Amino acid sequence: EKLFQVAIDGPAAAGKSTVAKITAKSLGYVYIDTGAMYRSLTYKALKEKVDLNDGDALKKLLDHTEIRLVQEYTGQKVYVDGENVTERIRYPEVSEHVSLVSSHEPVRKVMVDRQRQLAKSCNVVMDGRDIGTHVLPGAQVKVFLNASVEERAVRRYREEEKKGRHSDMDALRKAIALRDKKDMEREVSPLIKAEDAVVVDTTSLSVDEVVEKILTLVKEKQ
Ligand code: C5P
Repeated sequence: EKLFQVAIDGPAAAGKSTVAKITAKSLGYVYIDTGAMYRSLTYKALKEKVDLNDGDALKKLLDHTEIRLVQEYTGQKVYVDGENVTERIRYPEVSEHVSLVSSHEPVRKVMVDRQRQLAKSCNVVMDGRDIGTHVLPGAQVKVFLNASVEERAVRRYREEEKKGRHSDMDALRKAIALRDKKDMEREVSPLIKAEDAVVVDTTSLSVDEVVEKILTLVKEKQ
């Protein structure tokens, strides 16, 4: 039986991971957060003081880095060389540098190989920036999630509040817009909607409504 793949792409803070997680759970598929992989490498590179402009050095570092995405009881956890970095990879320092780290072709090549490997033996919901265009071009369902910068900043703000952190709305807005710009303008597999992706603007939709739309797309293709 052919494996089923759901690719979810879109800009920063559009709700991809929230929606992808729930969709995967309700389908019984494995959720793969590719952003967490690029964040993990960024975290390690910052820690080891590797030059973030040096794609070959980063690739070498990645070759010696084990990144594990684990579905635990309490949610999805991320481990780098055995260290639980689930929280740390979301810190602003990592968010600020991740687009630079992920712009290098040698880095992307290794990451994409690993991502395809993860999708080889099970049905997946994978989210990122280049999943429908590059990582899983044969995915049966491709979704491009979007939302206004304002709405995405508000969501990020609320997420931070929940974790007890107070953030500056204007700084959030700027950081989100800047990361999108870098991701869309990079040379190697930039953030772009796949031709056959369905655009879902989530600005005025609830999480459940977005999940429902994706589940409907899946049912149509099954
Ligand atoms: O999805 P998330 O915001 O965690 O992704 C962090 C960053 O990782 C993105 O802004 C982008 O620079 C990079 N990324 C990527 N390709 C992917 C997933 C993430 O370049 N497939």
